[in-house]
Amino acid sequence: MNEHSIGVFDSGVGGLSVLRSLRQEMPHEDFIYIADSGHAPYGERADSYVVARARAITGYLIAQHHIKALVIACNTATAAAIHQLRQDHPSLPIIGVEPALKPAVGASTTRRIGVMATRSTLSSAKYATLLASLQGQAEFVNQACDGLAQAVEHDDTTKIIALCTHYISQMGQFGTNSGQIDALVLGCTHYAFAEPHLRALVGPQVRILDTGEPVARRTHQVLASQLSARHGKGHCSFETSGSTALLQTAVQRWLQLPGPIGALRDRVS
Ligand code: DGL
Repeated sequence: MNEHSIGVFDSGVGGLSVLRSLRQEMPHEDFIYIADSGHAPYGERADSYVVARARAITGYLIAQHHIKALVIACNTATAAAIHQLRQDHPSLPIIGVEPALKPAVGASTTRRIGVMATRSTLSSAKYATLLASLQGQAEFVNQACDGLAQAVEHDDTTKIIALCTHYISQMGQFGTNSGQIDALVLGCTHYAFAEPHLRALVGPQVRILDTGEPVARRTHQVLASQLSARHGKGHCSFETSGSTALLQTAVQRWLQLPGPIGALRDRVS
């Protein structure tokens, strides 16, 4: 048990893309990562289900791991549950992720921006508020990508390529000429692991934006302002409500870490 860990959770392996940035930004912090793969995909489920999972996992991280901060490394869970989690745990710093629309507006010259996210994120009130705050600044082409997070979760390259090809073609023309999409926002943390395939499809000039780095910087800022924040030793531990083998493979591949990987305790799995 480490009383100074930062808790990180996602519906599965997608949040490892955020954890990768968190470790780069704060190499001396300890992290406990929960992959809720046994209940994925969040993005194609009812909000009430995602809120219940987020509450159970957060309660577990506090009770068992005594976390000093929580990063919700999932756009879908942030949209559905961050308000509730902040209400439940007012003294715990909670950092969420949201699709990087604002940075995309800054990066785009054609003012046509593609957004790939889960169905649930795109239909959330939080996303509607974000879009409304940028009204008139760019045109957003929103694409719900059913199945893509699960394909990444299962490391199914054939399916990842087929779905990326389908969704990118649905969104229209990519490029830097007027009327083309010149910025692509990855509004689901799983999609960061499909980036090489997306890059091949949209070409070298299109900006691809994910949320790992900005969220890591924000977490660093939040912790820096907490007087009680103490560093750990750069340890990471991992637990999953799904397949330990799948998480182990993803952790080795994306973070070059050996694990170990534990099973999420019965009470929450
Ligand atoms: N990785 C999650 C996100 O950022 C959701 C994937 C899922 O549908 O479970 O939205």
